Amino acid sequence: MTTHGISPEIVAALAHALGQGGVTTDAADMAKYLGDWSGDHRGGALAVLKPASVAEVQAAVRLCGALGLTIIPQGGNTGLVAGAIDIGTVGGAVIISLERLNRIRRVDADNFTLQADAGCVLQHIKDAAEDQDCLFPLALGAQGSCQIGGNAASNAGGVNVLRYGMARDLIVGLEVVLPDGELWNGFSGLRKDNRGYDLKQLFIGAEGTLGIITGVEVKLFPRPGKVESAYLGLPSFEMAIALFRQARRASSDLMSAFEIIGAECMDLARLADPTIVAPVNAPVHVLIELSSSAAIDLRALLLDFLADTMEKQLVTDAVLAESGAQARAFWAIREGLVEGQAKRGYHVRTDLSVRISDIPALVAQARQFVAREHPGWISQAYGHAGDGNIHFNVLPPLDLPEPDARARGVAITAGLYDIASALGGSISAEHGIGRTRQRAYWAGMSPVHRRLVTALKGAIDPNGLMNPGCLFAETETRS
Ligand code: FAD
Ligand code: LAC
Ligand code: ZN
Repeated sequence: MTTHGISPEIVAALAHALGQGGVTTDAADMAKYLGDWSGDHRGGALAVLKPASVAEVQAAVRLCGALGLTIIPQGGNTGLVAGAIDIGTVGGAVIISLERLNRIRRVDADNFTLQADAGCVLQHIKDAAEDQDCLFPLALGAQGSCQIGGNAASNAGGVNVLRYGMARDLIVGLEVVLPDGELWNGFSGLRKDNRGYDLKQLFIGAEGTLGIITGVEVKLFPRPGKVESAYLGLPSFEMAIALFRQARRASSDLMSAFEIIGAECMDLARLADPTIVAPVNAPVHVLIELSSSAAIDLRALLLDFLADTMEKQLVTDAVLAESGAQARAFWAIREGLVEGQAKRGYHVRTDLSVRISDIPALVAQARQFVAREHPGWISQAYGHAGDGNIHFNVLPPLDLPEPDARARGVAITAGLYDIASALGGSISAEHGIGRTRQRAYWAGMSPVHRRLVTALKGAIDPNGLMNPGCLFAETETRS
């Protein structure tokens, strides 16, 4: 899409409200806000607004409402479903970037909570927690760029959900500028508060369609003093799930990650970093992590349990991290394969979840479907197996022109969604709906669910000001 024009009078009014550095209409300056991380999508916007305070967010929202401008809230712009950029036919929206609203407000280590502006980068929050000998456990590959407000708006998952839950489970309070500019202060610092509806949960995972999150209060945990990681080789996805079942019981609830990686993903990891070497030689890899804040002998626990699983031949190969550096090298494989996919170019990207025990069926059926109906395309399966979440991605043949690959990608995506749905699964475990999955989202909804979702949107954003085209629009590009 191209950038539409915006009148000098409107720019002047916005600049008056937001001050120096608060409004950008220059095409070159706006470019980084208009494309997504993967390079898959580019959008357009009338302007990028960068409020530096909550009051400025309110002023910007009120002004946009008065001028009839729709709003796309944007955090770190690392989302993978085009929720923060306008790729549809809507046009005419302004992006409100939270990047200048980026202070840690308060760390209350006694209450195990931290309050921050929504534009705080996730890594900064994790660092601030660590400074107080605490852990904020939300962890994902994009943590150096994504913002806590974006994490809340997209109910981010990541690699520690298994132990600590998704963003929804980690948030104790929110502060939101509503579509009419009013501020809802949902902070109490309380971990238990049963006074009626839990309104914050409406805004978590709403993908910016109900308001702009300006502040977030999160739960902290004792910082684990000990972490043990192992990189395992297994014969099959079936064995990996059998291993998970056993590991979950044997690890005394101390397992913080159980990531699965199909061996075929190693080529992608090497695209990100050619020096990467697979620690094991097996069709399926598992990266398992145990962590604890107390003086528990995690290594003995891990060794005991691995001895048993190797004896049963669930695990055929195992490497235990002997140092923090070796553990980081394991994680570099997991993170590298995601980067490698983006480097390779356009690909089908999914975010499926099924019951944990259905993971082997999901992967087998998806692989068969691709091999049978889309020969030459390359299946990749990896993900957060401990949460039943598989990213089943499919790479086009290198010699296929990109427009053809994108066209076929629509059919491949639909086929994969059908497989997950037939298993009773979800087409979005953690990335959300954004602007790339609306058709499947609405198609899979019961009439009563549709009525409730529509009523909520209508009640909170009756004029459809917030993030048009995201979650609700009719237009869609599913590739
Ligand atoms: P953005 O991309 O800017 O926005 C995402 C959505 O939230 C949009 O709809 C936007 O309008 C809305 N939004 C943003 N900020 C606000 C706000 N302040 N108020 C209201 N609405 C807002 N996701 C996972 O769940 N698990 C993973 O493991 C994971 N790994 C990733 C790895 C990589 C390398 C990358 C690039 C992405 C990954 N993601 C993952 C996706 C992404 O990082 C997360 O969805 C993240 O939570 C998005 O945060 P953000 O600040 O970048 O939000
Ligand atoms: C991951 C992102 C893509 O799991 O969700 O790496
Ligand atoms: Zn993921």
